[in-house]
Amino acid sequence: MCKLIRYILVNLKFNVMLKAKLIINSELIDSDKTTQVLSISNDTELGSYVNASKEQVDKAFESARSSQKEWGNIEIYKKVDMFNKVADELLDRKEDIAKILSEEIAKPIKDSISEVERTALLIKTTAEYAKTLRSESIDGDSERGYRKNQKLGITRKIPVGIVLCISPFNYPINLSASKLAPALIGGNTVVFKSSSQGALSAFLLAEIFNKYLPRGVLNFITGSGSEIGDYLITHKEVDMINFTGSTSVGEHIRQISRVPYLLELGGKDFGIVSNKANIDKAVSEVVKGAFSYSGQRCTAIKTVLVQEGIYDTFYSKLKESVMKLKVGFPNNDVNVSFLINQKAADYVNSLIDDAFSKGSTPSWERKHEGKMIYPLILEVKDLNTRIMYEEQFGPVLPIYKFNTLEEAIEIANKSKFGLQGDIFTDDINEAFKVANSLNTGTVQINAKSDRGPDNFPFTGTKDSGTGTQGIKESILNMMKDKLIVVNL
Ligand code: G3P
Repeated sequence: MCKLIRYILVNLKFNVMLKAKLIINSELIDSDKTTQVLSISNDTELGSYVNASKEQVDKAFESARSSQKEWGNIEIYKKVDMFNKVADELLDRKEDIAKILSEEIAKPIKDSISEVERTALLIKTTAEYAKTLRSESIDGDSERGYRKNQKLGITRKIPVGIVLCISPFNYPINLSASKLAPALIGGNTVVFKSSSQGALSAFLLAEIFNKYLPRGVLNFITGSGSEIGDYLITHKEVDMINFTGSTSVGEHIRQISRVPYLLELGGKDFGIVSNKANIDKAVSEVVKGAFSYSGQRCTAIKTVLVQEGIYDTFYSKLKESVMKLKVGFPNNDVNVSFLINQKAADYVNSLIDDAFSKGSTPSWERKHEGKMIYPLILEVKDLNTRIMYEEQFGPVLPIYKFNTLEEAIEIANKSKFGLQGDIFTDDINEAFKVANSLNTGTVQINAKSDRGPDNFPFTGTKDSGTGTQGIKESILNMMKDKLIVVNL
């Protein structure tokens, strides 16, 4: 009965349009300055989000500041209870949230559901990890000149204060929670700015957190990055920034921020397939790695390098497998759907045009209609082809034949990105040689690039980011040390 009532209410709410309001000092703040949210797949209206003014941004920070001290002093076990309630409600509402998420960012429905489930787990694990946080003590007498038992240092972990969390469009629930949960459990209060695409889903997440957290702890802001982005980043009340998004915005944050930051930016993951690989396993991982969520993952495999001894067999099996991918509306069981906007689709098309002009051979005739780009493999002959090194963020995969592993490593390491890389081989020595040589935050052996499980550290070199995230790492990186010295 209860479920039926909720179903009716959710659908009623959906029909009268979901409005992502601001959440400031735990109040829902409406405005007539809004932006309409359209479904990526069919342009029907899904709802709208509020365009926050600078004054509203100020109020969000005021609220975060005034609640921080009290929140920083709340016992861990109480926070754990709150987090578990947030996670349980997410699980309870996963179908409804996934439905909106799927429409809003064209993510296949099964992937949207698993994003919500994964996020509930992340929140629970974050709460569990918080129970293991320890103060450390250090004796002074290892330094010459200090007596035994003269000085005892106790290092305690304390919050940095207010964390500005900025999340991207491709995981509006998971990549928002992967910032919010560690920041909050560490005693920080938060101003959360979601990507405009994904704002409705992010609002639902923020609303659930807000329901269980004390007043003012989480403040939610939406609006155009070009209007309020710099104002948020340079706001005098920000103590730390945690951002996931494009390399260009990340670079801008590096230039204008006056506070520490964690940045998760773009990626161009190279999948290297050796002559000694299990070909079927490698094909299956490369297909999932390159084409899931239409290639719009920073950890997607974005170039595949295949050793010449197995190239022909690998390529024919790859084509066979990519040909079977289901393309269509995200509310169905598909692998590839619409790209996030026309600009993204135009960019992918420009990379295909460039590849053709440099002599690349397509797996079959290219096909595209508006925001829909159909899966394509490009056999690249010239390393100067743009798609070898530019981040396509779409379902088009360049493949290149190499001779020695040294050559493959050199090609991969020329990338300006350094998020992840993959080596497919059954020779453990070869696997380690490549893993040790790739200049990336992570190397996967015999599997696609992936951020998860969420308790793993996640980091990138070069243009792929700054700092390490993950559950433990994000909590600790959004806290600072306070030393108390006992002088005896
Ligand atoms: O694109 C964001 C990045 O964090 C990818 O995450 O889970 O698809 O590896 P995942």
